[in-house]
Amino acid sequence: MATEVTWLGHGSWSLRIGECDVLVDPFLEDNPSATMNPTDVNADFILVSHGHFDHVADVAPIAKRTGATIVSNFEICQWFAEKHQLTNSFGMNLGGGTLLPFGRVTLTVAHHSSQLPDGSYGGNPGGFLLELPEGNLYFACDTALFSDMKLIGNRGIKLAVLPIGDVFTMGIVDAVEAVKLIRPERVAPAHFDTWPPIKQDSNLWAQKVREETSADPFLPKVGVPFSL
Ligand code: NI
Ligand code: MN
Repeated sequence: MATEVTWLGHGSWSLRIGECDVLVDPFLEDNPSATMNPTDVNADFILVSHGHFDHVADVAPIAKRTGATIVSNFEICQWFAEKHQLTNSFGMNLGGGTLLPFGRVTLTVAHHSSQLPDGSYGGNPGGFLLELPEGNLYFACDTALFSDMKLIGNRGIKLAVLPIGDVFTMGIVDAVEAVKLIRPERVAPAHFDTWPPIKQDSNLWAQKVREETSADPFLPKVGVPFSL
């Protein structure tokens, strides 16, 4: 089962795992770094890490059009049901996971916040560990550095996706420390350059990863798929 990964810009990702289309935190319409519109993407499942605008903005229109199942924490799933009449969802809590048609998905800890755009409580923020036939993929999503990343790394990570934007999440220095804890084969940065406050030199980050860790840093181009 081949897995293709595409960065959609900011913290948004599209995965094609075998015949299954999976989106992570789709934010396209108002995303200055996106090259696709919400009407361009396919989805069978939409993984939502937390309640912030830049992660939930396009979930409802895409879920309505595609009939995709929303996978998130329980509170966010409940909010989509009440606010958007989207009841096709699977709510979890931190540390919990479930087997989906494409692989096992676990909601991992993230140190961040999760208020929804209308001020509703969005539960705890999370990241996603995807155990796929081709290897494990870890989306840290919006988070600070935390030492328990080492435990996630113990699973054996083929590709880790880490925020490097600073201000709202880890910056470059902590994202290099995160690589040391997670020990992935490959690591890609996200959540940077979208707006001026999170402008970062991703090449500098990649250079530090190369110098200080044994992981292979990879800088995906928005909209260009690559193989896991
Ligand atoms: Ni956030
Ligand atoms: Mn964010």
